[in-house]
Amino acid sequence: MESIVKKIKKLKKEKNAIILVHNYQSAPIHQIADYRGDSLGLSIEASTTGAEVIIFCGVDFMAETAKILSPDKKVILPAPDATCPMAEMITPSELKKLKEEHPGVPVVTYVNSTAEVKAESDICCTSANAVKVVKSLGASKVIFTPDRNLASYVEKQVGIEVIKWNGYCYTHERITRQTIMAIKERYPDAVFMAHPECRPEVVDMADYIVSTGGMFDVVAKSSRKTFIVGTEIGMIYPLSKRFPDKEFISAGSRILCKDMKKTTLKKIVSSLEPLEPLIELEPETANRARGALQRMLEIS
Ligand code: 13P
Ligand code: SF4
Repeated sequence: MESIVKKIKKLKKEKNAIILVHNYQSAPIHQIADYRGDSLGLSIEASTTGAEVIIFCGVDFMAETAKILSPDKKVILPAPDATCPMAEMITPSELKKLKEEHPGVPVVTYVNSTAEVKAESDICCTSANAVKVVKSLGASKVIFTPDRNLASYVEKQVGIEVIKWNGYCYTHERITRQTIMAIKERYPDAVFMAHPECRPEVVDMADYIVSTGGMFDVVAKSSRKTFIVGTEIGMIYPLSKRFPDKEFISAGSRILCKDMKKTTLKKIVSSLEPLEPLIELEPETANRARGALQRMLEIS
């Protein structure tokens, strides 16, 4: 493994590439990261980096977002089949129809969406800034796509009507109230952090409702020792690495996003050598989607 890591570091230098890694990636991938974070942090990094090439270790919507924000850079997804099923749960024509049914209502789209759906939206958001984005609109009603659970969380926090699309993350939906109750019984002093993609009844049990990046901030500010991690199991590794004196309890081994685990060191080497597979987007779609993403970044 050491030699493959060395090879990646050498190739990265030669190609003027930066490696961006989502928090859910597996441990070996974390070790070669130039930057790791949540969707918001990764989008900001992709839009500001001076590197010519972005190697994206995550899923397709994240790499597409990087390409939209940095159209002149080469953006590479080493695992080209790594996708987010939630992003496929709404099509541009379904969103157009929803807009027709609610004329004049602003559309907020979670970044876990296709470039075509972003292009049909007024503004994007991530789990870290969804509440802030919706509040910034000053609207009495918004359309929120595609995640119904993030939409419910936003509705409660902002106190306005949210027209929700019925999308969801299969990984987060596997976390149930019963599972959390059982863990809490075993660890009565534990702090429960939930990702807002969890079911509303699970979110209601949480001490903190935060993005994956927000989980680091909660732990950093807390004097408590044990934390129940209500999100994808991959979060246990970077949290334990950064806070070796704290204890992190996963919501279960089934809380796994198989697409997030498709990136391997081998695939990274194979993509750095020829600089492919490249993310390519239709320019008109990318331009329209960029507006929605930039509006989000302006208020973040
Ligand atoms: P974060 O932006 O909180 O890292 O979430 C991304 C994601 O896909 C959650 O499932
Ligand atoms: Fe998509 Fe869920 Fe995987 Fe995140 S964890 S990438 S929302 S399927």
